[in-house]
Amino acid sequence: MKEELEKIKINTLKEIASSSSIDEIESIRVRALGRKGELTAILRGLSKLSHEERSETGKLSNEIKAALEEAIEKRKSEMENAAVEAMIHGDRIDLSLNSPDSTIAKKQGHIHPISQIQYELEDIFTSMGFEVLDGPEPELEYYNFEALNIPKHHPARDMQDTFWTEDGNLLRTHTSAIQIRGMEKKTPPFKIMAPGRVFRYESTDASHENTFYQVEGMMVDKDISVANLIYVMKELLRQIFRQDVKVRLRPGYFPFVEPGFELDINCLICGGKGCSVCKQSGWVELLPCGLVHPNVLRFGNIDPDKWSGFAFGLGLNRLVMMRYGITDIRHFLSGDIRFLNQF
Ligand code: FA5
Repeated sequence: MKEELEKIKINTLKEIASSSSIDEIESIRVRALGRKGELTAILRGLSKLSHEERSETGKLSNEIKAALEEAIEKRKSEMENAAVEAMIHGDRIDLSLNSPDSTIAKKQGHIHPISQIQYELEDIFTSMGFEVLDGPEPELEYYNFEALNIPKHHPARDMQDTFWTEDGNLLRTHTSAIQIRGMEKKTPPFKIMAPGRVFRYESTDASHENTFYQVEGMMVDKDISVANLIYVMKELLRQIFRQDVKVRLRPGYFPFVEPGFELDINCLICGGKGCSVCKQSGWVELLPCGLVHPNVLRFGNIDPDKWSGFAFGLGLNRLVMMRYGITDIRHFLSGDIRFLNQF
């Protein structure tokens, strides 16, 4: 029986050494060590042997079993390592290589002109102590209209027609909705600004889009006056245009401010002579603003007898147009790479 065991050991070790796949090694293991394997069959016959022979043969077969198991594991891990090595060296993709069309590999994107000016504005305002807030694009009617002193059926709702969802919510028409959300979060005194995308259901032309960007600003403190408002607006325009810009203030109607103004800037495209952007008037409506209406403060849980404030809503697309001399607002959403490459 001893010779038989030695023979099994030598043959199996040979087979293991020359095996070439994990499957093959597994079948060798089953044939030698499995429940019906060669070694197991010998162990079953041990009961027929004398006590001495039994213990000697049992010891030997256990040693052989351990040696075979070790050889199998060793061969298996050699094969697995070889497979990983082959994968690393064989199918390697060098991501640092240029693409066949190397011009594609070299082209890099850049920040959109609207975002560029948005970040500049954030810097300007935060340097004046304003905090940057965000708000949702799909908005509740309450924040977009109701709390801004524009109740249902108020004619001012017609000034800002929008896209409604079936459950009665809407795509915000202006960033002013964030005024209310801001007041709910903050306690006066505070200064906030909120850039964001807004939507209107209206036909487009050189200066009107259905999707555009605004920046809202609001300051609430004691004894805020129009003088505070004008100072901040002028400072903002001076820093953005890097020059003193001619502005004019006209009365403007917005239910959420009282008094309300339209701050226009002298058209920088035509120098005030008249063009399609300023509709031949020489002036571009850029910055509606005013002192916050007491009702709006109340909606924001702020006592209008103690606190007052100013607010403004800057049209970001038009500001970018003025800065770069862009003559048609529709370029921004056209996706025309020739337009974007200029910034
Ligand atoms: C408003 O949206 C007010 N929420 C602004 C405001 C805020 C007033 C706080 C007072 C206090 P208005 O609808 O005028 O107002 O829009 C503000 C600016 O957004 C405009 O001056 C203009 O620059 C820009 N704008 C308005 N409609 C369009 C449009 N269809 N396409 C591109 N820009 C537009």
